[in-house]
Amino acid sequence: MAGDGVKREAPLGVFDSGLGGLTVVRALREALPHEKIIYLGDTARVPYGTKGAATVIRYALSCARHLVARDVKAIVVACNTVSAVAPDRLRIELDVPILGVIEPGARAAVAATRTGRIGVLATAGTIASGAYPRAVSQLSTRAEVIGQPAPLLVPLAEEGWTDGDVPRLAVRRYVEPLARAEVDVVVLGCTHYPLLRPVIVDEVRDRIGPNVTVVDSAYATAADVGAFLVARGLARTAHGPCPPVQLLVTDVPATFRDAARRFLGEDIDEAEQVDL
Ligand code: DGL
Repeated sequence: MAGDGVKREAPLGVFDSGLGGLTVVRALREALPHEKIIYLGDTARVPYGTKGAATVIRYALSCARHLVARDVKAIVVACNTVSAVAPDRLRIELDVPILGVIEPGARAAVAATRTGRIGVLATAGTIASGAYPRAVSQLSTRAEVIGQPAPLLVPLAEEGWTDGDVPRLAVRRYVEPLARAEVDVVVLGCTHYPLLRPVIVDEVRDRIGPNVTVVDSAYATAADVGAFLVARGLARTAHGPCPPVQLLVTDVPATFRDAARRFLGEDIDEAEQVDL
């Protein structure tokens, strides 16, 4: 029982290829304000979305092992690319619950679709892995996934270039094939895309139709993580002010504070640099 209490008090570990996964932390903070969070951004090796699966798995194992060494009670894989290719391997290698972003996003998409035609915008790695079609096929025999890699949206979100002509034209190019496929749901299948959500929603509504649902897998994930912690008796019950996010990075980019504020929606003063 004392052991359970210690576990409940332990932090949640969250990791991503870089700072983009702070969009998932933002959703976790809203849904689970009492949880302590240690976030690891592999800023020295970002991006993962353009790399091969074996490399991404190797990087993911080093991130997850670092969080396990810090006694986290569970690991949330904020990165869609890692969630697409590495969770089975992480579960085999590590003795801690691993929660990804693909299944929650797929479940929200299946719940929202009426026509069964689901569009997914994600990195090239996530689309190539077939993870979203696989996850959707476990939930519905009727639904079909139309995947569209949208690689340029990652650097645009990193730069904070989230409105105006350049992101709009890029988003339009990526939405066009989804419009031709007549999807009625579009999943934001990448940590960075929620920052471009207003432009994506505009383009999706304009090109496809006013009733298309845009699913943000970060919020679906946060709801799943909350349910998981309660079911396992791992939810932190302490009240009082929300503990600040502990930020770990593998390289400190000069503009990390601006980027962290954009993705997380709150200020972070310090980041600890770690070697994996
Ligand atoms: N975190 C990645 C994802 O959600 C996007 C950035 C990258 O390519 O590393 O897929």
